[in-house]
Amino acid sequence: MVSKRIFVNREKELSYLENWLSTFPKPSISVNRRRDILFITGAKGIGKSALLREFQDRSRDSDRIVVYIEFRRPYRSVEQFIQDIIEHYYRALSLHSSRLEEIVLNILLDIAKTLVKKVGLDLDTISYTIASSKKYKEDPLRLITLLEEKLSYIAYREDKKLVIIYDEFQNLVKTLTTEDRDYIVFVEDLLNYMSKVQEWGFNTRYNGYCIYIISSSDYTLYRSIARSHLWDIVSTYHINELSIKDSIKLLEEYCRLYDIVLSGDTPHYIASFLGGNPALLIKLILRFKEKGYSSVTREAVDRELESIINYEVFRLKDVGRRLGIDLCTIYKCIGSRVVSQEEFEDKLFNELGSGEKIEYVINELLKENIISWIDYRLQYQNRLIERALERLCR
Ligand SMILES: Nc1ncnc2c1ncn2[C@@H]1O[C@H](COP(=O)(O)OP(=O)(O)OP(=O)(O)O)[C@@H](O)[C@H]1O
Ligand SMILES: [Mg+2]
Repeated sequence: MVSKRIFVNREKELSYLENWLSTFPKPSISVNRRRDILFITGAKGIGKSALLREFQDRSRDSDRIVVYIEFRRPYRSVEQFIQDIIEHYYRALSLHSSRLEEIVLNILLDIAKTLVKKVGLDLDTISYTIASSKKYKEDPLRLITLLEEKLSYIAYREDKKLVIIYDEFQNLVKTLTTEDRDYIVFVEDLLNYMSKVQEWGFNTRYNGYCIYIISSSDYTLYRSIARSHLWDIVSTYHINELSIKDSIKLLEEYCRLYDIVLSGDTPHYIASFLGGNPALLIKLILRFKEKGYSSVTREAVDRELESIINYEVFRLKDVGRRLGIDLCTIYKCIGSRVVSQEEFEDKLFNELGSGEKIEYVINELLKENIISWIDYRLQYQNRLIERALERLCR
């Protein structure tokens, strides 16, 4: 039995994407150099990827071709990279047009052969390390550029817009950066290249019209974009938690899927306690499933929440020790609010008294996914972190 994927609401976000796209004309030869970029941000597990996949699904039979590519990791081998790309292109093509399949497969094979020839390996052993060779670092970019070009030509012929989604965009950046390239400068170059079809050391045969959506929860990337002067070509859109009502719906749908009954007001209780981060809510339901619950009482919920929080407290203590930071200082500065960057830094300065230390602490907290910083506002990554800090510091 194939079960339908669970997807709750996000109509506002889907309409935003729809409206954003509607501002761009369909491709024509005269405007085919115009490229535009939307940067989707939001905490880990908030539902960026789920939203973008849903958007791709809803784009079937529309006036656009949507390719969703998730760069799952910073790639060290071309083989892994090609595998992920093939998988995603296949999905996009099966959604939109079967005629495209052959063309893309041929390009991929061509590129694979070229890569293999260059390093003197045969096709059977295509796996080799590119990490040590700066020269081949550019090849993943060459691969996606060729695919984009071909696809944008096809989209143009079919009178459709081409939308390319690069999820976990930081992994593409990491795959392409070398030691001698500054990360921030490279992000700027890459986005400029995507936006204006900057030449990249090889000939681009067809500079097609293409709209990009990039997505990431990576703060370094967010900050690089914020710090460079890319706002003319990059719009940003932040994904927030689900409402209590939608969180309850999500809990109920997952419980139905796993044959679990949440008694009385437990869905509301869980949603109020954990907030609307889908990943956290699902994690709790999966614990009930693993423990074989068929019916879940308020006491059982409290027990599981307690154990999840204890685990988080343990992790936070460990992080605090490792970094030499008393995390209760952070809790003192943020409490249970969303604070502005200015207010947080002022308060932290009173506690720590040194600018350098402040920068270090903030960077580490961001790296450890304890806090997240969006548009000069600071908050905890999710409610579980807040609950754990509450516990740790009371
Ligand atoms: N609106 C939704 N309805 C139902 N399930 C959802 C929804 N949004 C997210 N989920 C589920 O929650 C989990 C986390 O979502 P997702 O992977 O999309 O988060 P993310 O923001 O992409 O996180 P990360 O930054 O770690 O990539 C997934 O299992 C996803 O299917
Ligand atoms: Mg994701």
